[in-house]
Amino acid sequence: MDKKVHELLNQQINKELYSAYLYLDISNYFEDAGLDGFANWYMIQAQEERDHAMLFYKYLQNESMKVTLEAIDKPDKVITCHMDALKAGLEHEKYVTSLINDIYGAAYDVRDFRTMQFLDWFVKEQGEEETNANDMITKMELFGSDPKSLYMLNQELAARVYSAPSLVL
Ligand code: FEO
Repeated sequence: MDKKVHELLNQQINKELYSAYLYLDISNYFEDAGLDGFANWYMIQAQEERDHAMLFYKYLQNESMKVTLEAIDKPDKVITCHMDALKAGLEHEKYVTSLINDIYGAAYDVRDFRTMQFLDWFVKEQGEEETNANDMITKMELFGSDPKSLYMLNQELAARVYSAPSLVL
């Protein structure tokens, strides 16, 4: 495997684990705010990010490439209100999309078609994650200022259940 592609794939393990950490922080914010449905939604989001990290980890191992684990940064977003939390999620997903695109670009440059095929799932997944993050913001804009509506939105988010990623390595 190309050195740069290897480095970026290895780094992505850390970025996905940081994503899990960020979503745990957001889940914790909502738990403190008494919105257990939102807390549930972000807890499941954190689980999905751990799954993403493991997919990169497993892919490198399957390719007989070395995995090097680095320190995970502290969640650094300042969250002072519900909307801050949702916007931090969207901003972060856009950043992750840019990282996936960077790895894809590096793989494309060296005709690493296997890595490109592996990343195809993440390209689609990032589209879904950005849509979900945008939807959360729209719903909060529409219903967040009315306590009764916020309660119902919280109930809706409480119903989210975890499902394992469709990509299996
Ligand atoms: Fe692993 Fe939310 O992207």
